Amino acid sequence: MEIKQIELHNFRNYSQQKIEFEAGINLLVGANGQGKTNALESIHYLATGKSYRVKQESELILWGKKNFYLKGSFQTADRLLTLESYYEAGKKVMKINQLACRRLSDYVGTINAVFFSPEDLNIVKKGPSERRRFLDLLLAQIRPSHIALLNDYIKIIKQKNNLLKTVKNSTALKSQLPIWNEQLVAVGSKIIANRWELTVTLNSYCRPIFKSIFSQEDNMDLYYLALNKNSLEEALETFPEILDKKMNQEIERKTVLIGPHRDELLINLNDKPARLFASQGQQRSLVLCLKLAEMEIIFNKKGEYPILLLDDVLSELDEERRRYLLAYINTFKKQTLITMTEADEKIIKEKTAVYRVFKGNIRRER
Ligand SMILES: Nc1ncnc2c1ncn2[C@@H]1O[C@H](COP(=O)(O)OP(=O)(O)O)[C@@H](O)[C@H]1O
Ligand SMILES: [Mg+2]
Repeated sequence: MEIKQIELHNFRNYSQQKIEFEAGINLLVGANGQGKTNALESIHYLATGKSYRVKQESELILWGKKNFYLKGSFQTADRLLTLESYYEAGKKVMKINQLACRRLSDYVGTINAVFFSPEDLNIVKKGPSERRRFLDLLLAQIRPSHIALLNDYIKIIKQKNNLLKTVKNSTALKSQLPIWNEQLVAVGSKIIANRWELTVTLNSYCRPIFKSIFSQEDNMDLYYLALNKNSLEEALETFPEILDKKMNQEIERKTVLIGPHRDELLINLNDKPARLFASQGQQRSLVLCLKLAEMEIIFNKKGEYPILLLDDVLSELDEERRRYLLAYINTFKKQTLITMTEADEKIIKEKTAVYRVFKGNIRRER
């Protein structure tokens, strides 16, 4: 799939911008703080209905304005699609070919995009919530029903937490909690199963990619650790029991202590947690593998490659990894938008189009 054109109105530091893109490599060049990342963010937002950077859409509105509007034309193998997104004061409207979508899950997955920025190193480096988020964002694109599950789950956890915090009488609590636990198991089990299955698929892609970009001797492995169990069957079977057993502790601590919101995706390098033991360069290679696996999983699901958005990452990769990534992009001519500063511009020879980004304006140069 490809983005042909995008219009931005009051989005981040863009007041009015219309820009066309080409198949192949589109290079966005500019100094820091000019709007390169914001431009990629607008495309990612339009494709996925979500910002990967902020929770609150209001942050995306140009300062001093009340709303933003994005419109993009996308070409898939068999159709031309117009996606629109409008946001104002808590009101969000997403349209596909002029038809408003009632739910985000009706919108997400129509067009796919994979975003890769230096901050993605956090997937390997930081805490488990980064890794759960990575899984959930990818699941949202390939299985939009996952979004509804997450929303339901968040509501259940909120209500259960609220109960744990406000009801002081533990006998009363013990009579009410099982109802919430039942719902937590019903929705939580589906989330666990989705993430588990995705982890198995990711692993099957990542392992060979890692060997080819890193070394034949090194192994990358991914495991999903659900409810601290390393077997899906066992986790799902014992979920109600685990919650029962935790009840007294949860009452004491006044918070929900176990469930998929506490699960972990383990990323191992040679059987050791990469978060703790991998070097910075190895961690970069691991993230690169995750991103390439993401591309392949979407391709497998959709029969088309997603749009690849590379924000400042090429200059961070070493020569060998960079060459691998560029060769990967050039097979099947995957549409890619790459941002970088002028100093790094010469590292890419294969560009189709070059754009200059300056103070919230994008101008095509070549
Ligand atoms: N909501 C907003 N309204 C106006 N300007 C914004 C908004 N959010 C961020 N910016 C500005 O956008 C600029 C950063 O843009 P960015 O795309 O991250 O730059 P870069 O070209 O370095 O990737 C900063 O100058 C920042 O102040
Ligand atoms: Mg940037």
